[in-house]
Amino acid sequence: MARRSARGSQDHVIDLRSDTLTKPTDEMRAVMARAEVGDDVYGEDPTVALLEERVAGMFGHEAALFMPTGSMANVLAVRSLVAPGQEVLCEASAHIARAELGAHGAYSGVTMRTWIHPRGQVDLPTVRTLFAPDMGPFFVRTTAISVENTHNFAGGAVLPIQDLRDLREYATGVGVAVHMDGARIWNAHVATGVPLAEYGAIADVLAVCLSKGLGAPVGSLMVGSADAIAEARVWRKRMGGGMRQVGILAAAGLHALDHHLERLADDHAHARLLAEACGVDPVAVDTNIVVVQHADALGFVAAAREAGVLVSAVGPTAVRLVTHLGVSRVDAERAASVLATL
Ligand SMILES: Cc1ncc(COP(=O)(O)O)c(C=O)c1O
Repeated sequence: MARRSARGSQDHVIDLRSDTLTKPTDEMRAVMARAEVGDDVYGEDPTVALLEERVAGMFGHEAALFMPTGSMANVLAVRSLVAPGQEVLCEASAHIARAELGAHGAYSGVTMRTWIHPRGQVDLPTVRTLFAPDMGPFFVRTTAISVENTHNFAGGAVLPIQDLRDLREYATGVGVAVHMDGARIWNAHVATGVPLAEYGAIADVLAVCLSKGLGAPVGSLMVGSADAIAEARVWRKRMGGGMRQVGILAAAGLHALDHHLERLADDHAHARLLAEACGVDPVAVDTNIVVVQHADALGFVAAAREAGVLVSAVGPTAVRLVTHLGVSRVDAERAASVLATL
């Protein structure tokens, strides 16, 4: 995309609205074009099978299921743990609570109660007070606890592994399951060096996305036990998510895992650079998302757009910047100098 800036020169627009905006690279398009395919509803797409096996293995789980979106992966993952009329506990600004349009209630009859943490972290003392055991016909029973790592609306915050281990221990002790929304688990892994299998060991089921920082055009997976995945396969079809020759999309995911995982460290460095320019403490920026407080978020967004940088308002006084595959070092430096003036 090109535009004529307020200064009159022909500049390229730098898009920091989301890491979902990445476009497939030429190399990715080439592997997609060559992918071996079959009908995946018949279980005959070899590239999808390869991706599912690889991602399950990365997290130390038995199986995985490829699907179009992270939202669908979350819905099927949570419903595998929580029956209609039961509840999942999660942080109040979790994607499952705030941004899936009530899907867990609308499709699965699942209710939610939430704790609030400004950085989306696990608040175990509050979780303990929220937890509701089976009380027969009196109270909604808690059957799962959900965590989001990294936490999108908390500015890409990483959940410390020790907090997650403590949560796992608590959940096992009271007999409830753990769901992890790992749409950006890759960023957490690269930022902390914690192996993906260690994150996998925390959760009974995970949802992971290929279409965020990894740069695939589409695709997410639910990861879990063979039984949970077999059941989710039926529910995916029931919800209209049975896909056919999607090896072309799975190939993009495999390519992203091979070539776009380690480079997330660059996105994190670019985010810190932007944070510094905007007066945000870079130490508070764990991964690729920066939240900037500004008295007039919409005014900031408009002025940045005028100067060739796209950012989004996520509240009346909060602006979000997200770095990704489509933002080079030079872009990050230019955006930093533009945003610093605002
Ligand atoms: C934390 C988190 N979970 C789930 C999703 C849902 O992914 P999708 O847009 O593929 O449905 C998103 C999307 O941004 C997200 O940020």
